[in-house]
Amino acid sequence: MPHILVIHGPNLNLLGTREPEIYGSTTLKDINEKLQKRATEASMSISFFQSNHEGAIVDALQEAATSADFVILNAAAYTHYSVAIRDAIAAIKTPVIEVHLSNIHQREEFRHHSVIAPVVMGQICGFGADSYLVALEAAIRKLSEAQHES
Ligand code: DQA
Repeated sequence: MPHILVIHGPNLNLLGTREPEIYGSTTLKDINEKLQKRATEASMSISFFQSNHEGAIVDALQEAATSADFVILNAAAYTHYSVAIRDAIAAIKTPVIEVHLSNIHQREEFRHHSVIAPVVMGQICGFGADSYLVALEAAIRKLSEAQHES
């Protein structure tokens, strides 16, 4: 069964109470439950990891090289400046989808630039909690295509 790893970066553990006017009122637990439900329906396994620490996210990406078939990553603030996370994505063959709840391109200028965008498969932003579900749908489609080809 294909395995998808979802990585949530710093401050996303506070979803629900953190700036709800920007990020909505859905909690991380609610998001993970929705993702779990959809992955189960699609006969895919899924696991979740949240960290406020850059190195822990680098470790999770390195582990994903052998333990996951797809990664959905919201690197949060690290998106905008972490060369270490960008290099970890570039170092592994597992495809990564970049996700943001908010539309980073409509926000402060420092959020417009993603240092990880050039090394991910694609970027989904601006759909609130649904950004994750849209990313999961894309991963499911890619993994199903790969299953049919093999
Ligand atoms: C975010 C956008 C980032 O700019 C911000 O630092 C976050 C969350 C989002 O999901 O919209 O923490 O990645």
